Amino acid sequence: MNESAVKRIAVFTSGGDAPGMNAALRAVVRTASHYNIDCYGVREGYNGLINNDFTRMGPRSVKNIITEGGTILKSARSLEFKNKAGRQKAYENCVSHGIDGMVCIGGDGTFKGAKIFYEEFGIKVVGVPGTIDNDIFGTDNTIGYDTALNTAMEAIDKIRDTATSHNRVFFVEVMGRDAGFIALNSGLATGAIDILIPEKKDSIEDLFATFERAEKAGKSSSIVVVAEGEKLGSIYDIAKATQQGFPDYDIRVAVLGHIQRGGSPSCADRVLASRLGHGAVVGLMEGRTNVMAGLKSNKLVYTPIEDAVKKHNDIDQHLLKISEILAI
Ligand code: F6P
Repeated sequence: MNESAVKRIAVFTSGGDAPGMNAALRAVVRTASHYNIDCYGVREGYNGLINNDFTRMGPRSVKNIITEGGTILKSARSLEFKNKAGRQKAYENCVSHGIDGMVCIGGDGTFKGAKIFYEEFGIKVVGVPGTIDNDIFGTDNTIGYDTALNTAMEAIDKIRDTATSHNRVFFVEVMGRDAGFIALNSGLATGAIDILIPEKKDSIEDLFATFERAEKAGKSSSIVVVAEGEKLGSIYDIAKATQQGFPDYDIRVAVLGHIQRGGSPSCADRVLASRLGHGAVVGLMEGRTNVMAGLKSNKLVYTPIEDAVKKHNDIDQHLLKISEILAI
């Protein structure tokens, strides 16, 4: 490799934590060490840049963390970094540590911050997509998504036991503020009779028609998976409307919430995180900046951060169709 374009980098995790962030951090620190690049970990995302919370990291600082959920660097959504004065402080702290490159591990809020910071101050930055929501363009999967999907699937399987035993209808909410990837895939994997996601136009009439079809087919219990960001209304409103439409149904609501963000990362997430963390450092060394490292069709690709946050991976409509066909 030619001489590296960076000599001393900072790495941090920001936004909602995701399983595999630690594996990505480990990959960044060890890749940097392998190529003789100094590496500083910054605690609590952009807040740590502002508050000068930098720690020198080496291969032993990341021992045994590949198995751990959460992030040892901690994470935050920084309000102060949204102001120029906060970013100015962050820049001064980077300068005082001699930082010439940054790896930021997080989701779209993290990347928006990285882009503006690069444009204002010129410190090279490469993003690593870490969020359970899978709502980042430029990578087939984000780090944490696979683990969260499996957590949701296991939880819904358990709910299924009760639904079947009591002939109940369950509405189960999964995470995804703006995106239905977790809902669609966990719904398909658990045989949900309907999947409500923000990317498709749902109606209460269509939902009722699905219940009627299920009844005719002899189903005595059902699960409907609802994405957190569903536009039809809150899961409680939808359940209430269903109870009014079908007074005989024994309906329950379960909101899975933050259990989806925790836990030891799956094998797929550990491998993805390792490849992207390594790819981010190599990208910086090659002089890349304002890009995100992602994996598309099993190949490492760099996508401009602007595209990563503005564009969207489309929901696979065919998967929705398959889930409809298979559920009843
Ligand atoms: O990490 C993304 C996400 O899981 C969203 O799906 C959800 O809306 C959000 O985080 C909740 O985050 P918090 O509770 O940290 O504000």
